Amino acid sequence: MSLRLLVFDSGIGGLSVAREIRKALPGAEMIYVADDAAFPYGDWPDMALSDHVVATVARLIGRFAPDAVVIACNTASTLVLPPLRAQFTLPFVGTVPAIKPAAEHTRSGLVSVLATFGTMQRDYTRGLIAQFAGNVHVRLVGSSHLAPLAEAHMRGEAVDDAAIFAEIEPAFMERDGRRTDTVVLACTHYPFLVERFEALKPWAVEWVDPAPAIARRVATVAGEAAAARGPTGAAYLTSGRSWPPALAPLLEGLGVAPGHPPLVLPAPQRP
Ligand code: DGL
Repeated sequence: MSLRLLVFDSGIGGLSVAREIRKALPGAEMIYVADDAAFPYGDWPDMALSDHVVATVARLIGRFAPDAVVIACNTASTLVLPPLRAQFTLPFVGTVPAIKPAAEHTRSGLVSVLATFGTMQRDYTRGLIAQFAGNVHVRLVGSSHLAPLAEAHMRGEAVDDAAIFAEIEPAFMERDGRRTDTVVLACTHYPFLVERFEALKPWAVEWVDPAPAIARRVATVAGEAAAARGPTGAAYLTSGRSWPPALAPLLEGLGVAPGHPPLVLPAPQRP
């Protein structure tokens, strides 16, 4: 029996998680939904975002009847996993800042977390720091611009080095002769910019991308039943717009085709 996964993000950044899931579960049917009608999530107030994501994911579950749901978005996962789990018995796998592995990895004791403002301010994120990074200095670096810059880069548009550098520079700390050595990519859009970050970094750091660990978790939760079949699936934009042509190779590599008919969802009530 085939396994159907719903992979959901505010935009196209969650494809960084989808490509790792595809490696772990080559035979799964993957439905990728980018909520571009409501993108970016990073600056939405918590309550409005939670209500919007829970309602949207509920409609998508109704339409696609997935076996498991992956919320491939830190900004949403740090808020909506409890209400979704309360409403549905399906397995939900979330994406939350990889603070624990970063705290285990750092040698200098200086870790930065690059995230949206929403993720940066969440109690959930602060809880992870208190629980797993007590002996480490963690700097939370929130950005409103980096996810939209990643989307522009993914669409093949020119993105200035200076614009990217301005967002990542605060992640580089020097203190008592020590330097930040570990930076958590706590937004699923950022792995698509990591080569640009590498080229711009003032000194060497380890970029922590949790996508492979999330994919392993999805494989554990969902089981390996689908591995015998070829990759299949569909990708949707909640705005109903067409997929940017620059993303065609990435979608093809995932074995997903632009979905038809387009989704018809109520327009987001952006506050
Ligand atoms: N991809 C989302 C995340 O992981 C955030 C981008 C946005 O602001 O919508 O946090």
